[in-house]
Amino acid sequence: MERILVIGASGQIGSELVPELRKIYGNDNVFASDLKEPAEDVKNAGPWAVLDVLDTKRLVHFVIRHKITQIYHLAAVLSGNAEKIPLQAWNINMESLMNILDLAKEIPEINKIFWPSSIAVFGPTTPRHNTPQLTVTEPNTVYGISKMAGERWVEYYHQKYGVDIRSIRYPGLISYKTEPGGGTTDYAVEIFYEAIKTGKYECFLTENSYLPMQFMTDAIKATISLMEADKDKLSIHSSYNVGGISFSPKEIYEEIKVYLPDFSISYKPDFRQAIADSWPASIDDSVARNDWGLQNEYEIKKLTDVMLKGVAEKFGKTIK
Ligand code: NAD
Ligand code: SER
Repeated sequence: MERILVIGASGQIGSELVPELRKIYGNDNVFASDLKEPAEDVKNAGPWAVLDVLDTKRLVHFVIRHKITQIYHLAAVLSGNAEKIPLQAWNINMESLMNILDLAKEIPEINKIFWPSSIAVFGPTTPRHNTPQLTVTEPNTVYGISKMAGERWVEYYHQKYGVDIRSIRYPGLISYKTEPGGGTTDYAVEIFYEAIKTGKYECFLTENSYLPMQFMTDAIKATISLMEADKDKLSIHSSYNVGGISFSPKEIYEEIKVYLPDFSISYKPDFRQAIADSWPASIDDSVARNDWGLQNEYEIKKLTDVMLKGVAEKFGKTIK
């Protein structure tokens, strides 16, 4: 029987991943942990704890006491926030990963780890369109440097110590349950909130900034598919490209206008524009499709429909 610990469970991904894992493995076998309390549904349905991933001693005790067999390590400082506190972000992102890798190496009961990388491993010298799985990775953001170094360590622990650690280079993730934690792709979530709340949005990227994106339902499905995949089928032990769809602020604005014709947008690029410009516009995820059957269901129209209705409901409004 698997006993799963999700670290960073109160964030954008964790708050949706924990309920899905609980459906598969049982409520009592999936532990949510974070520096902050989780969402009400996560808190009420199963075990949770306030736990700092940097507190190695407590983490080891927790894992042993609760007989944990798998860890999803989601705690990190994302791209926009990391540029404001570079060294702190580097320390949090790297120390936490090294803690988890060492745990997995030392505790034989741990059979599998999930740790997400990001499209941020790519940089200005990477081919920008249909970016291949294996290509130049010269990131110029602190977040990207930490993800790139993380990927190297992940592969090292796999090769040297046989640690089974699986990873996806997530694109920008779009969801409405929990607001995102300070990334460059966050505009694609904020735009829905502002469309519903105020009817206007000032975008921090320019209108033609294309970035790869994925709806959260597809991202969770991909994560679980990778974790459940037969180990022999996996050819990548750093991190898999996952592309989802690709769109610009102007394109998503036009989709929202179909529902809200009076919605208006203006553009005021800030420091995150340089980050977006250094990332791919679209991703080739054929290796993930071939190895473990990645499939995305949500394209831009379906995503817009679900996001607008979901955000509207949060504010007691209805969208037709
Ligand atoms: P998030 O910022 O929404 O959530 C991260 C959570 O980690 C937060 O709840 C935070 O409180 C927690 N945390 C921070 N420091 C901690 C610590 N020391 N101990 C325990 N918990 C701590 O982030 P997210 O969007 O859910 O992302 C999760 C992971 O996925 C990160 O590694 C991120 O880099 C990666 N990722 C996310 C996206 C995206 O678009 N959301 C895209 C690519 C990669
Ligand atoms: N959504 C993330 C960010 O913008 C991508 O890793 O930081």
